[in-house]
Amino acid sequence: MDVRTGFVVLLCLMGFTCAEPVKYIDCGSSTGKVSMVDVKPCSSQPCQLRKGESYSVNVTFNSAVESQTSTAVVHGVIAGVPVPFPIPKEDGCKSGIQCPIQPQQKYHYLNTLPVKSEYPAIKLVVKWELRDDDKNDLFCIKFPVQIVS
Ligand SMILES: *[C@@H]1O[C@H](CO)[C@@H](O)[C@H](O)[C@H]1NC(C)=O
Repeated sequence: MDVRTGFVVLLCLMGFTCAEPVKYIDCGSSTGKVSMVDVKPCSSQPCQLRKGESYSVNVTFNSAVESQTSTAVVHGVIAGVPVPFPIPKEDGCKSGIQCPIQPQQKYHYLNTLPVKSEYPAIKLVVKWELRDDDKNDLFCIKFPVQIVS
């Protein structure tokens, strides 16, 4: 590691913004379009999620529809099997989005991902959906993470 890389890593470890967006896969956003996914702190990819800590998630998307509600559904996909991943707030309208959602409008969906200490230290894929009134996905994203002790 050279001095510059070392310095950047140090800043990241200190909690400074490491402005690298998370690499994600779109898993079927139908009534919206995602432009950016940000997980903090995440200094390397896949994001290393430490047990007992909480991570902030910021999904920037455009809606194509009007919707009064928005509901988040989060799964951890372990060896291809989706397991419900509990988050503190399922209501997207209380997660940085001002409802009703309007078409052709850009939104920042903000939430936290708490990593419980009883979770196993494994690699998994986080699948995060935000559903509209008709249960269509305003967004559906998948990104890999690694849970570490
Ligand atoms: C969420 O991400 C967008 C796009 O990068 C940014 O403009 C916005 O400030 C972020 N919001 C928070 C609370 O970090």
